[in-house]
Amino acid sequence: MIINTELEYKGDLFPSKIVSYTQEVDSIFFNTDNNVILKVTVLRDSMIRFRFTTKGYFSNDFSYAIDKSQSHGYNNLEVSEEKDHFKIKTSKVSVIVQKHDLRVGIYDLDGKTILEDEIGFHWEENYEYGGNIVKMSKVSRDGESFYGLGDKATHLNLKGKRLENWATDQYAFSKDQEPLYKVVPFYIGLHDDVSYGVFFDNTFRSYFDFAHERKNVTSFWADGGEMNYYFIYGPKMSDVVKTYTHLTGKPELPPLWTLGYHQCKWSYYPESKVKEITGKFRELQIPCDAIYLDIDYMEGFRCFTWSKEYFPDPKRMVAELAKDGFKTVVIIDPGIKIDKDYWVYKEGLEKDYFCKRADGPYMKGKVWPGDCNFPDYTNPEVREWWAGLFKELVSEIGVKGVWNDMNEPAVMEVPTKTFPLDVRHNYDGNNCSHRKAHNVYGTQMARATYEGIKRFAYPKRPFVITRSAYSGAQRYTSSWTGDNVATWEHLWIANIQMQRMSMSGMGFTGSDIGGFAEQPSAELYARWIQLGVFHPFCRTHSSGHHGEQEPWSFGDEVIDITRKFVELRYQLLPYLYTMFWQYVNDGVPMLKPLVYFDQEDKQTHYRTDEFIFGNQILVCPILEPNALGRRMYLPQGNWYNYWTQEVVKGKRELWVATDFDQIPLFVKEGAIIPKYPIQQYVGELEIVDLSLEVFYKLGKEKSHVYEDAQDGYDYNKGRYSYKTFSLNGKDKELIIQQHKEGDFETLYKTIKISLIGLPFKIKEIEIDNEKVSFESVSYDGNCCITVDKDFTELHLIG
Ligand code: GLC
Repeated sequence: MIINTELEYKGDLFPSKIVSYTQEVDSIFFNTDNNVILKVTVLRDSMIRFRFTTKGYFSNDFSYAIDKSQSHGYNNLEVSEEKDHFKIKTSKVSVIVQKHDLRVGIYDLDGKTILEDEIGFHWEENYEYGGNIVKMSKVSRDGESFYGLGDKATHLNLKGKRLENWATDQYAFSKDQEPLYKVVPFYIGLHDDVSYGVFFDNTFRSYFDFAHERKNVTSFWADGGEMNYYFIYGPKMSDVVKTYTHLTGKPELPPLWTLGYHQCKWSYYPESKVKEITGKFRELQIPCDAIYLDIDYMEGFRCFTWSKEYFPDPKRMVAELAKDGFKTVVIIDPGIKIDKDYWVYKEGLEKDYFCKRADGPYMKGKVWPGDCNFPDYTNPEVREWWAGLFKELVSEIGVKGVWNDMNEPAVMEVPTKTFPLDVRHNYDGNNCSHRKAHNVYGTQMARATYEGIKRFAYPKRPFVITRSAYSGAQRYTSSWTGDNVATWEHLWIANIQMQRMSMSGMGFTGSDIGGFAEQPSAELYARWIQLGVFHPFCRTHSSGHHGEQEPWSFGDEVIDITRKFVELRYQLLPYLYTMFWQYVNDGVPMLKPLVYFDQEDKQTHYRTDEFIFGNQILVCPILEPNALGRRMYLPQGNWYNYWTQEVVKGKRELWVATDFDQIPLFVKEGAIIPKYPIQQYVGELEIVDLSLEVFYKLGKEKSHVYEDAQDGYDYNKGRYSYKTFSLNGKDKELIIQQHKEGDFETLYKTIKISLIGLPFKIKEIEIDNEKVSFESVSYDGNCCITVDKDFTELHLIG
């Protein structure tokens, strides 16, 4: 690991004074007399890009992270020259660039500092490789907090930490271990109630130091490439996250079944074993939608082949599983076995699609199949070829999803665990070495896989899961957090990783429930499933080397707990799908750490355990053995304890007692939570009515429900239904108004409303301003009312 020490600062170079500047539409170029150019581009009033070169000109502007379809535009842009600085002003912020040393400061319109350079941009020439090690240092203030950076197994608040970005196969990683599988060089700063973001879009090995080395300095640097970062102004953290997600892109809606429960193990084989597992799910009535085949389904670990011995007729098996509601997902790794009789290898060789070393030979490395060559997914032609390879798997055999693993890329039996740095890559026509392509290799593989599945699954939606990823990968794929361990500490890590991934734009993520390495105790597995059902991606996976890890491997009590929580997830599918829709449309993270929920409450800045699932459900896992409850922090507002229906006032720490088959769950007062009936898999039942659980509040609250055909692309043509329910509670009245967008018609005709916490006895019911009889809405005098799904206003009078 190369760490810059004070000594190395001796080699640092700095910009000198500005000698000229020019403006081209939204970009202002500042030229120094030592050939440095700073290009400041205003993308939005609240998003500004800073790009530096030390060569006197810029190289081709290319990024895998940025979503090309995103829209830009600002309301105001003024550039002015003062005695010692230039000022760029938008309708949200002003940027000051110092004339004598190119240092930058960013301020809000009241002049309050948001982010200021300490040394600012500086660099060190890299004599070994050419180019520069590019560096940036910013002033870090007392009380400032830092979040983001994707997949880090450490405290949610990154203050005081140094972190490294280099995609790494980190088997059985430990707390604070660096680096891990994914690279998201984006952080959020929070100081004095103002949030801002920095996205350092540089794919070389990079580092972030949040007041670790020097108390008042935040710095980031990379082993090569450009100093190229995007500054995003909040002031709310939600604005920062949404803007970042907009910049790096949002996924398509996944098919609804992918939000169900998935079962995986290394490996389920032969076919009879797979059937035994799926059969047991149905027998025990534990809902499950997906079954995974790990590497042993292949013939000698050759991708796109099937073991004839274990899976003699995959098409029939996949169809039989599908009949029972199971979607088959198979693993595909990047290493292609060197075998002259293997069609994929032959094609790759003939077309010259494998990565090469600097001097010409193919990059050779050991992975599961033995010696392999590796496709260069940064070459668009290779991606196209790779996509085509999925034809048989998807179109003919009927596989519904693909799991991309080992794509850091991982290489066995070498100390670096990956390719040598001299390996060459196409990088979409910007030829480069592995130093630059390493961190995006996995994303480009997942992208090619996604293109293939999308092509052959059409008109259904594709599903891909990846282990390695760079910013922007969310456009193509979901992900999981790699080879974790069956320990309580890892349960704590998983909880934080998922919150962090969510606020780093890559929300469709889960951990291996129960832990991949080693064997969980019954209690640990139960606690993990209780958390896992509240993660966007929900899959049990294990290495299978230490014992069984199916829900029934831990005795009857755990079977019941698993069933109870997985059933709850299936009931909450419309709520989960609505969360996903808000992520896809507005970049809203599906999981929200407490600091995201209320950044003004300083108590939230160092909270790690509690998070908001969607907008209105607060989840707090139990992370210790033998705990029948825990201390936790409830943020502002009033909350219903989900289990007792007791209303609890927030903005305070409290003890919450729970039984072993519960974890602290709270619902925001005023929330309307949609539920479907329990199904063993998505689509098992025809939904005859939608349930709405209404948590009474004195005051107003809005809730939403998104629905569509649950798969396919009709939703893009307006065939979706996005309902807003506005609740208004008074002393002796409750009004619920419904507003619908989109022209999808749900099959069900009625909505079943359950009233929770209603403080009065209903004397009269009006629907759309007309009084109705209790019988006509099946009101039982207790809690439930059944109404036509298209009501506009429901008025309950006490
Ligand atoms: C890697 C993956 C793991 C998988 C195993 C075998 O360790 O992270 O999920 O089961 O390889 O394919």
